[in-house]
Amino acid sequence: MTLAGRTVVITGASSGIGAQAARQLADRGATVCLVARRAAELELVGGDIRAAGGVAHLYPTDLTDSDSCDALSRQLLADHPVIDVLVNNAARSIRRPINESTDRAHDHERTMAINYLAAVRLTLALVPRFVEQGHGHVVVSSTLSTQIPIPLFSAYLASKSALESFARSLAAELGGSSGSGGGVTSTIVYFPMVRTEMSGATSIYSAMPMMSPADAAGWLVRAVEKRPARISRRSGVLGEIAMATVPGLTVGLTRPLFRRMDASLKRASSRH
Ligand SMILES: NC(=O)c1ccc[n+]([C@@H]2O[C@H](COP(=O)([O-])OP(=O)(O)OC[C@H]3O[C@@H](n4cnc5c(N)ncnc54)[C@H](OP(=O)(O)O)[C@@H]3O)[C@@H](O)[C@H]2O)c1
Repeated sequence: MTLAGRTVVITGASSGIGAQAARQLADRGATVCLVARRAAELELVGGDIRAAGGVAHLYPTDLTDSDSCDALSRQLLADHPVIDVLVNNAARSIRRPINESTDRAHDHERTMAINYLAAVRLTLALVPRFVEQGHGHVVVSSTLSTQIPIPLFSAYLASKSALESFARSLAAELGGSSGSGGGVTSTIVYFPMVRTEMSGATSIYSAMPMMSPADAAGWLVRAVEKRPARISRRSGVLGEIAMATVPGLTVGLTRPLFRRMDASLKRASSRH
């Protein structure tokens, strides 16, 4: 898909990967609709895009508020006669051991609220337009850690796995040729660790080598342009194969590796 003249809605556009992706998509000629709660940060991203000659529309919204999310989708549909792509990128992450979360079911509620339910609500509102147009592409930002499950992120990973499953269902039900009511495709993007506000919340990760937000944004641009079913590191695909064939062995072998990794990151971050 050439991006010139295309309209792309991107959530989580106020910081990190989403903000960089908005800039890169606009540089390639897309009209970008930026969604997040922090209006001032959206203004900064939108201002940069306009200063570089691009087109950005700002939609400050708390996506976990269902009335606000519905108002957003009504506004998007009213403002844009064609919406080509929705990038569901807004999210929150929680790193907490399960045995310290036994009275914290709300961790699961709040990650599901933004990472899964908000994305589904917005996507459902745009699906009739995608079907009417005969095309529409939905990108979801997920993580390598659903391919090879890393400990301490149970609420986050469960919400991302749910979103992946929804994205696969979209393509399975509404993909195919546009003439037969199809034309809706999806891409799941399995990011490795990326240096953003989200990963910065875990202090021991300061010592971990990570992808830059600009490179990660490039993955979202590729998802929009090429529309593959999946964008992943090869190690993630190997992890999926291992989990599909020998799940017990895979978890048994990776558990001590993750423990050692955490211990060495703790040591390295305390030296900084
Ligand atoms: N960083 C990593 O290592 C990593 C690894 C794998 C996957 N990912 C995924 O990549 C995506 C981008 O994350 P990031 O690293 O760029 O993190 P980030 O900088 O923290 O960005 C998260 C974005 O989500 C928005 N958001 C959060 N709650 C919201 C709400 N209730 N309503 C509307 N927007 C909301 C935030 O904006 P406001 O606060 O302004 O609302 C922000 O723009 C996420 O889906 C994340 O799960 C990240």
